[in-house]
Amino acid sequence: MKKWNVAAIRAAKGVRKLGCATAYDACFARLADEAGVPILLVGDSMGMTTLGFETTIPVTMEHTLMATAAVARAAKDALVVADMPFGSYQCGADEAVANAVKCLKAGADAVKLEGGESFAPLIRRFVECGIPVLAHVGMMPQSVNEYGGFKRQGKTREAAEKIMRDARAVEAAGAFAVTLECIPSDLAAEITSCLGIVTIGVGAGGGCDAQWLVMHDLLGLNANPPPFARKYADFADEARKAFARYVDDVANGAFPS
Ligand code: KIV
Repeated sequence: MKKWNVAAIRAAKGVRKLGCATAYDACFARLADEAGVPILLVGDSMGMTTLGFETTIPVTMEHTLMATAAVARAAKDALVVADMPFGSYQCGADEAVANAVKCLKAGADAVKLEGGESFAPLIRRFVECGIPVLAHVGMMPQSVNEYGGFKRQGKTREAAEKIMRDARAVEAAGAFAVTLECIPSDLAAEITSCLGIVTIGVGAGGGCDAQWLVMHDLLGLNANPPPFARKYADFADEARKAFARYVDDVANGAFPS
């Protein structure tokens, strides 16, 4: 398989649906890459999946850069996208560009940021600087404090129209793809048919061009996965059993042998 790049992702629209996933370390990034996952997102969901926070808000540039470098070292074919953490691009365009550049220098092929119309000028600036952008509209987890929880968005007509405007604005600004998170599936399908760029849904139904699954949901490592996720393996159960067998083996002298 040839390395996935932004042009190949753009070309997949209407040709092939893409199953994309998050990754936060070299070990799992290697496995996902070998399995043919086209995009590995170093998601700020790492705050919840691996760092034990309640939300993505506490994730820092240091967390993101360390995880991005690890994933990029392991991913041979996948496009590696660094998810810009809260505060790293809301701080003024120059600092935002400097932070995005750090992500690319750490090994990312592109960055992702949350925001629609109001972030379109920043997306354009990134693209002009040679930084490919994967946008994110709909439910934006970094706005959890504004929503008062991780709540589905786009339920009223006005809210749906706003999300459509956001999606059109990020496309016009030069984003090569857009994440549609937790919005009604008919709205996601309509956005997908209106846009020329790839839509990547998460909790947004099957009408998108591609899907995200958070790795911990996909592998059964998350005790409370969202209802729309699908578990393809039960790693938590396997790991618990393996740790317990090991503890017993040491206690009863079976290991080391
Ligand atoms: O951080 C993340 O995992 C994400 C995806 C679910 C889109 O933003």
